[in-house]
Amino acid sequence: MPLSGRRILLGVTGGIAAYKSAYLARRLIEAGADVRVVMTRAGTEFLGTATMAGITGQPVTTDFSVDGSSVSPHTDLARWADLIVIAPATTATIARLAVGLSDDVLVATVTASTAPIVVAPAMHTEMWEYPATQRNIARLTEDGVIVVGPASGDLAGGDVGSGRMEEPEVIVEVIVTTLSSSLSGVSVLVTAGGTREPIDPVRYIGNRSSGKMGHAIANEAAARGAKVTVVTTAGVELDRRIEVIRVETAQQMADAVATVAPDVAIMAAAVADFRPAQVSSGKLVRTDGPPDLELEPNPDILMTVSQRRVRPFLVGFAAESGSLERAAEKAVRKGVDLLVANDISQPGSGFATDTNQVTIISPDGTSEPWPMMPKTEVASRLWDLVERRLSTR
Ligand code: CTP
Repeated sequence: MPLSGRRILLGVTGGIAAYKSAYLARRLIEAGADVRVVMTRAGTEFLGTATMAGITGQPVTTDFSVDGSSVSPHTDLARWADLIVIAPATTATIARLAVGLSDDVLVATVTASTAPIVVAPAMHTEMWEYPATQRNIARLTEDGVIVVGPASGDLAGGDVGSGRMEEPEVIVEVIVTTLSSSLSGVSVLVTAGGTREPIDPVRYIGNRSSGKMGHAIANEAAARGAKVTVVTTAGVELDRRIEVIRVETAQQMADAVATVAPDVAIMAAAVADFRPAQVSSGKLVRTDGPPDLELEPNPDILMTVSQRRVRPFLVGFAAESGSLERAAEKAVRKGVDLLVANDISQPGSGFATDTNQVTIISPDGTSEPWPMMPKTEVASRLWDLVERRLSTR
């Protein structure tokens, strides 16, 4: 789903088009979004808070009042939202947004947020064409606000003209496009799959990694507009915009990684720590008896990246069987910004499955277990988190 795991704050202001906001909320939820609603006082005169609470399954915020769950609803919502959409947006709200007049909870939330803002104006043609409205819209566009519509058609009171709120489907499309470009201009490196360390021309030391998690992360980054390079051992299809470097061994992976200087590196590969010291040029045969396999260490690719002078934002993975305590220590030892740990002994988690249950560990010792979910959704949530961290760096 295009908005899977995305958090959209829907602002509803006082216009007759508010009836379409209920439909917009439904469409956003159908597209996979988590939706919360803020309504201005005038907005509640056109659409019931109970309707929006019923559709979203969340309480609707209408003022600054402390409700027990939040002492500062505007800043909490501002941090929560991946995107804020105001539909319908009246002339009054547009004017307040243009000057940052945060005397209502909706404009206050916008001014407290760094998320993209989408505004769908709805008003009579004359109000839309009024010079101050046009000036305010131009100011908002200059400030990076995305203005959708208005469209032409039937207006309130039997009038016809420009000023009609854009259809919910069109607004959803704009939201999908806006969120999918959130990584434009960012270069990303992902390592994926399990390395294969040859013993002879036939056999290798390998592991069960399928590359699914790494590839989901790479595809999500490409969908969000990043320039992505993937160094992978896996043959799974990747988004055609991605530059793919196929490798087999840890040494080849290390060599390929050394050629890339990304803004963000996500090391999802399961890299063999050791490789056979000698690779037999001919096939080892049974009659020679059990081979004497001497092993030597592979480079630690993650560590090499973490020690670069110009270091990317670095995300490591840790596959652990049993307690995740070692993972917290690993986050510090390996010098990562985030560590994605998973307990591979749990059913439905880890190698070669389509789902994963991960715990996000920060080097400061904090950890957050995420529920079991499809790998594609882990990828989407991980990028939400990385984007938030990047914006506060
Ligand atoms: N990694 C790497 N190069 C290696 C080994 C691991 O880049 N030679 C990366 C993996 O891609 C992963 C992280 O390091 O992001 C942790 O991998 P893991 O195998 O869990 O860690 P190890 O360093 O092998 O630690 P241990 O064997 O003690 O669990």
